[in-house]
Amino acid sequence: MAINKPKKPILFLSPSLTTTLFFVVLFTIPALLLLHTPSTSICTTFSTHTKPFSGDLRKAEFAWNRLKFSENILPPVSLKIAVFSRKWPIGSIPGGMERHAHTLHTALAHRRHQVHIFTSPSLDDTSQTASLSDGSPSFSPQIHHHEGQPGRWRYNKAWELYQEENEREPFDVVHSESVALPHWLARHLPNLAVSWHGIALESVESNIYQDLTRRPAEPMSPAFNRSLQGVIPKVLNEIRFFKNYANHVAISDSCGEMLRDVYQIPNKRVHVIVNGVDDHEFREDLNLGHEFRSRIGVPGNASIVLGVAGRLVKDKGHPILHEAFSNLMASHPHVYLVVAGSGPWQQRYKDLGPQVIALGSMNPSELRAFYNAIDIFVNPTLRPQGLDLTLMEAMMSGKPVMASRFPSIKGTVVVDDEFGFMFSPNVEALTEALELVVAEGAKRLAQRGKACRDYAASMFTASKMALAYERLFLCIKNATFCTYP
Ligand SMILES: *[C@@H]1O[C@H](CO)[C@@H](O)[C@H](O)[C@H]1NC(C)=O
Ligand SMILES: *[C@@H]1O[C@H](CO)[C@@H](O)[C@H](O)[C@H]1NC(C)=O
Ligand SMILES: *[C@@H]1O[C@H](CO)[C@@H](O)[C@H](O)[C@H]1NC(C)=O
Repeated sequence: MAINKPKKPILFLSPSLTTTLFFVVLFTIPALLLLHTPSTSICTTFSTHTKPFSGDLRKAEFAWNRLKFSENILPPVSLKIAVFSRKWPIGSIPGGMERHAHTLHTALAHRRHQVHIFTSPSLDDTSQTASLSDGSPSFSPQIHHHEGQPGRWRYNKAWELYQEENEREPFDVVHSESVALPHWLARHLPNLAVSWHGIALESVESNIYQDLTRRPAEPMSPAFNRSLQGVIPKVLNEIRFFKNYANHVAISDSCGEMLRDVYQIPNKRVHVIVNGVDDHEFREDLNLGHEFRSRIGVPGNASIVLGVAGRLVKDKGHPILHEAFSNLMASHPHVYLVVAGSGPWQQRYKDLGPQVIALGSMNPSELRAFYNAIDIFVNPTLRPQGLDLTLMEAMMSGKPVMASRFPSIKGTVVVDDEFGFMFSPNVEALTEALELVVAEGAKRLAQRGKACRDYAASMFTASKMALAYERLFLCIKNATFCTYP
């Protein structure tokens, strides 16, 4: 796979140079083809000629997940890492950002790094002991809950705990999950990396898509109107304070591009590392899928089973999926939609009748069975901030995806037509995409699913994410580690 997509022309060529190049290319291609075994297609010939990346990682503009790191070799040095995270999830099913922090730093601790988490008081009494019994105790992150109200983040309290620990033995690197560490403290830390799980520029688009779903006679809610007025000032504010953070991690290729091009942060301080999902948790399991299908009552005559998961709220695009599926249902009596999750739209899905199976909230093992039971995963989100982990989970489970055509999804997830379908987040476009899916049939979708699984297993595993962060943290500590391989 090509690492650098040549998106922009790099130089303008004079006509004579163009002619020369034309002839060079004209004669080189057959020569290259002759040198290769006849079975090699032109496509693979070109991709094998793409040089793998080498050099200073800080100059890489693509996702570090594309690089190879060795999982079996322990890091050259063990780092002392400080993490600022508003919440540290244990026991309950956490949101995306907390899940990221937990998955990442548990993995780094297992790789013998000394990880200290600075977080808010726990909501759950059992969490302090639970965090120690999680795997081998000495290879788990050490959790420092600051004092105060459960779940209520106070960065200055966390900062005091950090300073105490830093005085005992200085940290090699500091990691902030989003603005957990505010910029006026972060600006003093040259060894800091911040991960952005969504930026204000992305929420500009979010506002556009959400308002476009409003019907002509429907009034705009005053709260939404206020958020519209505030969004550009918010972007400007972010652009002004983001530069105080020494190193930035974008979780999608398009976010990295925005940080470089619009937020004007120097290239060498912007790194793209896509969030990963647990590869033991999410994997292909056909039997599990069959069993779950019959358990939830999908009849044997079902031709296509679509699945959607997450909070069933308006900004996740449920109004458009609800309407598009009810259009589709009428003409395709063998097509089913399985809805995993709860929220205000759950009842409305139930009201659509037997072709919609609304399951409510699911625990992680049920969710694994859910992904295996469907033919294709639908994510009609209207919020382009960050990148929904559900897409990666579905692909890891060997399923193709249908998703809103957002830069983050296009640039990082559905990077090949084979992986699924993208649609503009409106009822007409989604209905059209659904019709295409139904026309293709389950067999073709399963084929696409295999390609998804291969790509996801190379890009979206938690271990790949952890190894990429480890490399970044090593590079922040000592520039000799910035040279790849
Ligand atoms: C939004 O609020 C402004 C004033 O705050 C008002 O003038 C405008 O008509 C509102 N827009 C909509 C679509 O309700
Ligand atoms: C599919 O099978 C179910 C149960 O076996 C039956 O109730 C339903 O009518 C069938 N649907 C169609 C469209 O044939
Ligand atoms: C950086 O790492 C190299 C190789 O491990 C080592 O020789 C060098 O002393 C280190 N530099 C600093 C400033 O620690």
